[in-house]
Formats: sequence, C-alpha cells, structure tokens
Amino acid sequence: MESLAFTSKSLGDTFALAKAFSEVLGPESIVFLSGELGAGKTAFVQGIARALGSENPVTSPTFNLMQEYDVPSGQTIFHFDLYRIEDEDELGETGLLDVAGIEGPTFIEWGEPFQSLLGEDFFEIKIERVAEDANAEAVPKDANAESNDAAADKNNNSTVANSDHFNRLFTFSAHGKEAEKLTRGFTCKL
Ligand SMILES: Nc1ncnc2c1ncn2[C@@H]1O[C@H](COP(=O)(O)OP(=O)(O)O)[C@@H](O)[C@H]1O
Ligand SMILES: [Mg+2]
Repeated sequence: MESLAFTSKSLGDTFALAKAFSEVLGPESIVFLSGELGAGKTAFVQGIARALGSENPVTSPTFNLMQEYDVPSGQTIFHFDLYRIEDEDELGETGLLDVAGIEGPTFIEWGEPFQSLLGEDFFEIKIERVAEDANAEAVPKDANAESNDAAADKNNNSTVANSDHFNRLFTFSAHGKEAEKLTRGFTCKL
C-alpha cells in the first residue's frame, strides 16, 4: 500500500492538494475521507469539484446526504456524507451502492462503517488538525499559493477561511491495484 502525507496550512493549500489529486482520479475511483468534524473533508471535495471545473454544486433534491457536481468533461462527481446513516438499509436509500465505482468518481465522508461493502479498490484520505509549529519561520507564499487562497476565500461561504490556527495533515493511501497505480503519479508541491 502506498501512502503519502502533506501538511496543508490553508484552505488554499487544501484546494491545491485537491487539484493535484483530481488529476490522478479515475472514473471509477472511490475515495473515503476521514477526520473529525471541521477537519476539511467537505472543503477537499469542494476543491475537487472546483478543480474539475464545476461552477455550481448541484444539490440533491431530497436532502444533502448526496451532492452531485457536474463537470465540463461530462463526468459527474458524487459526494456522500454518511454521518447519519445507521445501517445498510439506510445506506441503500442514499444510492451510494448504485453509483460508487460505476457512475463517476465518488467521495464519501463518514463511510468507514460501510467500507467493506465497496470492494477492495479505493483511496483513503485521512485529515487531522495539527497545531501550527510555533517555532517555524513564516514562509512567504508564492504567487500561485496566493491565487489559490484568493479562490478559496471566494468559494468559502461557511466560516472565515484559515482562521482556526490549525494546519491539516493529509494522509493519502491507496488500497488495491487500480488505486495504487493511480497514486504513483500523485505529487503536490505546497
Ligand atoms: N488547511 C485547511 N484545510 C481545510 N479547511 C480549513 C483549513 N484551514 C481552515 N479550514 C476551515 O475548516 C473548515 C473545514 O470544514 P469542512 O470542510 O466542512 O469540514 P468537515 O467536512 O471535515 O466536517 C472550514 O471552515 C475551512 O475554512
Ligand atoms: Mg463535511
């Protein structure tokens, strides 16, 4: 199993990571995101949708356990939040099993209890809030990082971006042959 770690110091960094990851994503990729509330799971998926050119998130008509992002390539990105899903019957109603690995790249928050239902080929992205290193020198951001941050601010309609003084440690792991193969091309310079 391949595993790669990156430290995101801002929402812009998270969007840059999402952009890099969007480039290795396959049409059948299944991605589990883990991390506590507020870690940045949804922000990462928003970064994916944005990187692939989605302008407006299409909200599911029923309730937002699932969101679909239509992107100009003609693909649909699926995004599930299974926080409130308690058993396999409820999971069935979300439609996850009908689309994951079939209809388009699929991102799943809080999916750990159901991981075994989705086959053996998938990515796991673990996001942990970590304290900023008080001794680290401030690193001037390059122009590219600034434009990412500006885009992040524009896209961020929840709380104030980058205001919680924590970095995010992202650990990407690939399980299964296909995911491992895709991950070999994955790098990101923050
Ligand atoms: N480096 C970072 N990466 C991602 N989000 C960050 C970062 N720094 C601060 N944030 C903030 O943390 C929050 C993450 O929220 P969200 O993505 O909804 O979390 P989750 O889906 O894991 O519950 C957002 O308000 C975002 O602006
Ligand atoms: Mg979320």
